[in-house]
Amino acid sequence: MKKKLMAMLLSMALVGSIAGCGVTTTAPGGDSDASKTESQGKTDGGSGSGKTIGILMPTKSSERWINDGNDMVKSLKELGYNTDLQYAEDVVETQVSQAENLITKGVSGLVIANIDGESLTDVCQKAKDAGIPVIAYDRLIKNTANVDYYISFDNKLVGNQMGQYIEKKLDLKNAQKSYNVELFAGSPDDNNAHMFFEGAMEVLQPYIDSKKLTVVSGQTKFDEICTLRWDGALAQARMENILTANYSGGKKVDAVLSPYDGISRGIVEALRSVGYGSGDLPWPVITGQDAETASIKSIIAGEQTSTIFKDTRKLSAQAVKTIDAAIKGQKAEVNDEKTYNNGVKVVPSYLCQPVSVDKSNYKEVLIDSGYLKEENLSK
Ligand code: GAL
Repeated sequence: MKKKLMAMLLSMALVGSIAGCGVTTTAPGGDSDASKTESQGKTDGGSGSGKTIGILMPTKSSERWINDGNDMVKSLKELGYNTDLQYAEDVVETQVSQAENLITKGVSGLVIANIDGESLTDVCQKAKDAGIPVIAYDRLIKNTANVDYYISFDNKLVGNQMGQYIEKKLDLKNAQKSYNVELFAGSPDDNNAHMFFEGAMEVLQPYIDSKKLTVVSGQTKFDEICTLRWDGALAQARMENILTANYSGGKKVDAVLSPYDGISRGIVEALRSVGYGSGDLPWPVITGQDAETASIKSIIAGEQTSTIFKDTRKLSAQAVKTIDAAIKGQKAEVNDEKTYNNGVKVVPSYLCQPVSVDKSNYKEVLIDSGYLKEENLSK
C-alpha cells in the first residue's frame, strides 16, 4: 500500500516536472512552446477555403496520438483547411489554455482528445459563444451541452473483447480449477477507462463470482485498480507491489487485464523482474490496447499476449468529415444517439469497430492493412 502511494506521488511529481520544464501555459494569442503550431497546413483552395481547424491531442508519449494528429492534418489540408495541431503532454491546464488560445485566435472548428473529460466545460462555452463547433475525439467531453459530436470506438465492446480474450485463453467456460488474475484500469478522468473496465467485467465478473477466477490481491474496485494518466511506470510499480504482497508463496499469476499497451508493457517488466518468462514461470495472459509497435513486438516475443486494434486512420477520417460538415452547418453522419450521455446531453456519436489482435492474426490485421510496417517490428 505504502509502495502504491509512493508510486502515485512519484507519478504526480513526474507530471508536475513535465509541466515545469518545457510545457508552459500561454496568454491568449501567445506564442510559447505550448502553443507552438505542430503543422500549419496551407490551403489548396478546396472546400475548406483556408479556414483553420484547431486539433488538440493529449500527449506525444503514445504513438497513437501522433498518428491521429498527423492523419487529421493531412486530410484537412486536402480539403483546403489550415490546421493548428498541439499536444499538452498530459497536463490538463496546458490543454485548457491551448483551447482558449485557439478560440481567441479565431479558429473555425476544434477537434479535442481531452486529458480530463471534465475540464473543458468553460472552454466549450467559449467556443459556443464564438460559433466554433467542437468535436470530442476518442474521449468524451463531459458536463457540457456545447460539444457537437463524439467520434470514437465502441468502447464497451473494447472492454468486452479484452475480457473475452482472457475467457478464451484460459478456457474459462470449461475450467475445472481457479485461475489467478489481476485487474488494471486506465485513467479515472478518462470516460473510456470506465467503459473499458465495465465491458471487461461484464465478461469476467461471473467467473470471479463462480470462483473460476481469483483476484489474489483482492483489488477489484475501479478506484483501486485505475492508473492515473495511463502511466506505464505507475502500473509497473503497482504490479510489483501486488507480486511482493500476494504471490511470494509460489502462487503464480495466470492472467492480467490491462486496458492499454503502455500499461501492459509496465506489467511485463514487473513480471520479468521476478522471473516470469524464464524457467518454469510462463508469461500469464496479458491483454492491451492500441496495437503499438512496441507491444506488437512484445506479442511476437510471447510476453504480452493480445491487444485491441483501433484503426486510428478510420477514426481520424471520420473526425475530419464531421468537423467539415459541422463548419458548413450540415448534419454529420452518426451511428449512435443513445450511449454517450455526458451528464448534460446525449452526444451524437460515430463509433468505429475495434478488433482483437494476437500473434495469430497481427500480420493479417496490422501489416496487410498497412497500419504497421513489418520492418519496424524486427528493429
Ligand atoms: C484512451 C484511448 C485508448 C488509449 C488510452 C491511452 O482514451 O481510448 O485507445 O489510447 O486512452 O492513451
